[in-house]
Amino acid sequence: MATLPIYVVPHPVLKRVADAVSNVTDDHRRLVENMLDTMYAAPGIGLAAPQIGESMRILVLDVDQPRSENEDEELPVEKRRGKPQVFINPELLWSSEEMNVYDEGCLSIPGQYAEVERPKIVRVKALDQNGKQFEVEADGLFATCLQHEIDHLNGVLFTDHLSSLKRDMVMRKLKKFTKENLEELQKTHIL
Ligand code: NI
Repeated sequence: MATLPIYVVPHPVLKRVADAVSNVTDDHRRLVENMLDTMYAAPGIGLAAPQIGESMRILVLDVDQPRSENEDEELPVEKRRGKPQVFINPELLWSSEEMNVYDEGCLSIPGQYAEVERPKIVRVKALDQNGKQFEVEADGLFATCLQHEIDHLNGVLFTDHLSSLKRDMVMRKLKKFTKENLEELQKTHIL
């Protein structure tokens, strides 16, 4: 198991439509484990394969991570595993008309957040890490995270849901943030 470097915008791999996985193999299962390690270490609640430079339709998420009793403190990385979920070739089957607004961030847009509106509930089918098909109905944060990660597989970032004015602002702030945290970011990211 290993932690992988995370690609930061505007890397072209993040704008590409990722390829479907035709057959889930041990290589994919290894990749999934490394993606989970990378996500927990970041720390984050979701990660899509293009974010670690692999243009494949694979995403992982965990919206049930245990939290430290002290809000200002991160749990040690080995204690962050809650309920990891793996989606290979995910397909959106249905989304609710009811919408939800959430302050979203992205490991590929470090340090930046903005409110994004998405359907509150979605139904998705996918393959798990054993190649077995399953279906889920996601609500709330789970739904937001799942849609955010599926977007990554289509080369779409949360900033693409913003007005051009807001998007430009986020990109300007990202440039500043990157400059100010360059050394730290270079340890874990590909800039
Ligand atoms: Ni993201």
